[in-house]
Amino acid sequence: MSIRSAAGIFDEAQDSACSPRISLDSYAGFAGLPPLVGLHTMAEAATAGLTVSGSVARLKRVHWSLKRLHQIFVSRITSEPIYELKMAFSLHAYYCSEHVGEFASRVREMRQPPYGLEVSPHSALDLFFDEIMAAPDTPALLLGLYEYAVPELIRALENLIADTNKLFDHPTYRICRLTLVEMQDLRQYGANAVRCLVSQDAHLELRDWGTTLERMLAAAGGLDGKQDPTEDVVPRQFSAVPYKYDPVPKRDDRFTDPYNMGVNAEALLFDDSIPPFPKTIMLYFKRMREIDVPEMMASILAEMNGKSWEYYRDMTRQLWDEARHAMMGELGFISMGIDWSTIPFNFTWSLGLNTMLTAKERHAVLFTIEQGLMPKKTGKQHEWEIAVASANPLAAMIQDYDWADEILHAKIGRDWIVSEIGSQAEATAYGDQAWSKILVDWKKWKEDGLTEHRNWWPDIYRAACQNHGVHPDPELLAYNITYEKARADLKEDVS
Ligand SMILES: [Fe+2]
Ligand SMILES: [Fe+2]
Repeated sequence: MSIRSAAGIFDEAQDSACSPRISLDSYAGFAGLPPLVGLHTMAEAATAGLTVSGSVARLKRVHWSLKRLHQIFVSRITSEPIYELKMAFSLHAYYCSEHVGEFASRVREMRQPPYGLEVSPHSALDLFFDEIMAAPDTPALLLGLYEYAVPELIRALENLIADTNKLFDHPTYRICRLTLVEMQDLRQYGANAVRCLVSQDAHLELRDWGTTLERMLAAAGGLDGKQDPTEDVVPRQFSAVPYKYDPVPKRDDRFTDPYNMGVNAEALLFDDSIPPFPKTIMLYFKRMREIDVPEMMASILAEMNGKSWEYYRDMTRQLWDEARHAMMGELGFISMGIDWSTIPFNFTWSLGLNTMLTAKERHAVLFTIEQGLMPKKTGKQHEWEIAVASANPLAAMIQDYDWADEILHAKIGRDWIVSEIGSQAEATAYGDQAWSKILVDWKKWKEDGLTEHRNWWPDIYRAACQNHGVHPDPELLAYNITYEKARADLKEDVS
């Protein structure tokens, strides 16, 4: 049998004048394989699809919406008190940032410039996102994000997948499908968040605002512009006063004593006479204390204008990594049976940087600190070695990935802040200079009654020993080195 005869159709068509006609409906591939690699039947491929300009118009709507969503998630991390939501917004911002880049690339493949990616596709769409950005509290923000914006974005992706031709416009189909997977994760998490945090009363109170959001979407023809725009002029509600980024970090009630600098973590970690077990507790503390890094990086992203999207994408990736580090610390504490809410997690670093430095200075401070984490003996490798020596596989795993992430962060710093300032030495000096502007006044905070710098270490160490079935070392119970004379994270004397 020839290859052709295996396919059947061609031989028959050639051999017999009475053979069935090839048609879109009856055509099959070799040995019955699906034609067009299974993307469409022939009949579908011949009829389905949007034109290039039709597809580009939809892509630009999705691109713009992801960009606005990213902006909202990032801008609300610092001032959102609930820790879990700070973490969720970090992840959701990260997903959006990756997909913004993909949709922008696809638009650029389809048309000559100008691409119009910096221009809003419809003013009512911006009204819609402005309203959510300006939501006055957590319940309104959650409803706006997860009951309106994200489901509408999912609808837009599903519409585009259904409407576009998977053969002609396959790259569009593909990015929509991959984006959809992550947006469905957002919707699922968001539905849970709404269930946990938005009361029936809040739902009722926000009902009119929900109608306002729907009218704004309708005025834009839906998020994707598939409907005819009503062009309804909808007055602003929450965004009547323009949104302003709030740089002051807020924390929920589980976080107390935020000025406390009573326990110097680095001094314990660098003390060779101290065994690994107590050091793992301190590593978990250091990881969870990283909650302040997303709080600070969010301020850079919210206030740094005019960079290419790759900058925002890379910085959002790092922001998400830092959120993961905080959660790794949380996991570590839970694995030890420790209630982390009894530990004070200082917020003065994010507070100081966000309120006293420019976005560029903040980024340079971050870079300077991360450079300090590179040396083998005092940096991330050292922390990993401590964790490995503790024979605690979880601690080792946490530090293994923390170290790997830090290498990437150093590269992100080199790619963006070093190239902006000049050389690595200049960037580090600039960061050091900026950091010295921040007043870390250990004594004054105490005098002003902001904190007692309570030594929380003995209680936590004792609890960890008890859960671990070992006796606490009296010398370690007496550990009492504070940050009075040291600068947290930089490990240098500033006195
Ligand atoms: Fe980190
Ligand atoms: Fe980092």
